[in-house]
Amino acid sequence: MRPLIAGNWKMHGLRAEGLALARAVAAGAGGVAAELLVCPPATLIAAVAEALAGTPVAVGGQDCHEREKGPHTGDVSAPMLADAGARYVILGHSERRAEHGETDAQVRAKAMAALAAGLTPIVCVGESEAQRLAGEAEPVVARQLAGSLPEDFAVQGGVVAYEPVWAIGTGRTPTETDIAAMHGAIRAQLTRGTGGPAGARVRILYGGSVKPGNAAAILSQPDVDGALVGGASLVAADFLAIAAAAGASPARR
Ligand code: PGA
Repeated sequence: MRPLIAGNWKMHGLRAEGLALARAVAAGAGGVAAELLVCPPATLIAAVAEALAGTPVAVGGQDCHEREKGPHTGDVSAPMLADAGARYVILGHSERRAEHGETDAQVRAKAMAALAAGLTPIVCVGESEAQRLAGEAEPVVARQLAGSLPEDFAVQGGVVAYEPVWAIGTGRTPTETDIAAMHGAIRAQLTRGTGGPAGARVRILYGGSVKPGNAAAILSQPDVDGALVGGASLVAADFLAIAAAAGASPARR
């Protein structure tokens, strides 16, 4: 399975710096074995997609509305993202779940809209620190997956990102053992579900404080098929170093 290294720029990037970052990533993408993706803010998707045309770096959105169009002021639909040049869309990120009250059911509807528009959804799940300390991390994530993934998600090539909320932007990460255990549990759930053999092919990304210094150790864990990178994706050299670590990891499964 080819690893996917996805950069989530979040609410960062005016036009000049965003384009410079995208070009710097593309300039270093040559020898990278992993698939590379950058997810700029919505205002930059079209310009970044244009700048990256003909390079191996794909472009994605950070959210989409569940409807194709309509009276939804300020929202962006999946067909609009595709029209702007996006191929992926991050959905259900914990910042959206927390700041915009997104529910599993909404995330599921958005994932269906993304698939209908020909986009690959990257659906994020992850427990809070209190939930992990209470020993509830795996059931919490299992419930999020059950509620957030449409039935044909695996068959249609969807991507899952496991992002423990307490690891995002904090510099803290779960142990490698905990990451491997959670990814194994997610894999088991995907293959048990209607996904069947397709569930075995779903890429499961790890996200939360992935840096050049910890990327190789995280990416070499079983069932870790790539990374969703926030802060470190804003520095091209760091993002490329993470991508190189994915390529250098031993063959997975
Ligand atoms: P981080 O963010 O790498 O800055 O922890 C990851 C994410 O939120 O996707």
